[in-house]
Amino acid sequence: MSAWKKHQIFEKNSLILIVGIIIMISIGGLVEIVPLFYLKSTIEKTEGMRPYTPLELVGRNIYVREGCYACHSQQIRPMRDELQRYGNYSLAAESMYDRPFQWGSKRTGPDLARVGGKYSDEWQRDHLIDPRSVSPTSVMPGYPFLMDAKLSPIKIEIENNLKVNALYGVPYTDEQIANANADMMAQAMPDSDAAEGFLERYPEGKYRNVVVRDFDGNPDAITEMDALVAYLQMLGTLVDFSLYDEKANLR
Ligand code: HEC
Repeated sequence: MSAWKKHQIFEKNSLILIVGIIIMISIGGLVEIVPLFYLKSTIEKTEGMRPYTPLELVGRNIYVREGCYACHSQQIRPMRDELQRYGNYSLAAESMYDRPFQWGSKRTGPDLARVGGKYSDEWQRDHLIDPRSVSPTSVMPGYPFLMDAKLSPIKIEIENNLKVNALYGVPYTDEQIANANADMMAQAMPDSDAAEGFLERYPEGKYRNVVVRDFDGNPDAITEMDALVAYLQMLGTLVDFSLYDEKANLR
């Protein structure tokens, strides 16, 4: 029997053809999927990445709650125009502690993956209260209520938030979890004893760009504005791209 005649077995019998197709697709699938089980991680280890502090994590929750992702992406693609506008393209490792990630797919406003440090806290606060006060043609809604929303010290909430993250492999220590509530408040209370304790638990060197500041400019209250601004100001600042070859990134 010649080869093409043998092939007639498949062509004339749909059941045999289906079994053949399933076998072929399984082989293709296994070749792609099996190696992933033997890799420890598909994310390259990247220096500088650290978990969010409790205040930043709360800020991130507010970002999710308010649906900022509906207008803002957090993912810079490796294309020349994006690199020139926003900076280095996003690395997988930069969202390794994001659950859920905030990559987004809509850019009514600009990408925010590297907005940290681009503006002052004051600008961020004014912009969030009334976007048109600093960006006259903006279509972004204002969020003035964040200034009045005190971060209620509901201990259990932020503690559990860290716990759940730890469950997923975010390296929070037991001490950080136990002090989550105090640390959340402390990061917005410069010169306080609490701030010292916080900085001991999130030491410089190990925790890049952890800063204690009165992010909302109101020393009398610790508000959701503190948390959201703290989060925005650290976005995209953890990996030091000056260590990498700039030309390689601007191909
Ligand atoms: C209806 C769409 C929309 C929503 C929702 C929205 N934004 Fe915006 N945002 C914009 C637009 C448009 C701009 C650009 C004009 C401006 O600066 O206001 C912008 C600009 C910004 C900027 C300045 C970025 C830069 O690089 O100049 C930041 C920061 C920002 N938004 C944060 C937020 C946060 C945080 C939220 C959620 C609390 C949010 N936005 C919700 C549309 C939106």
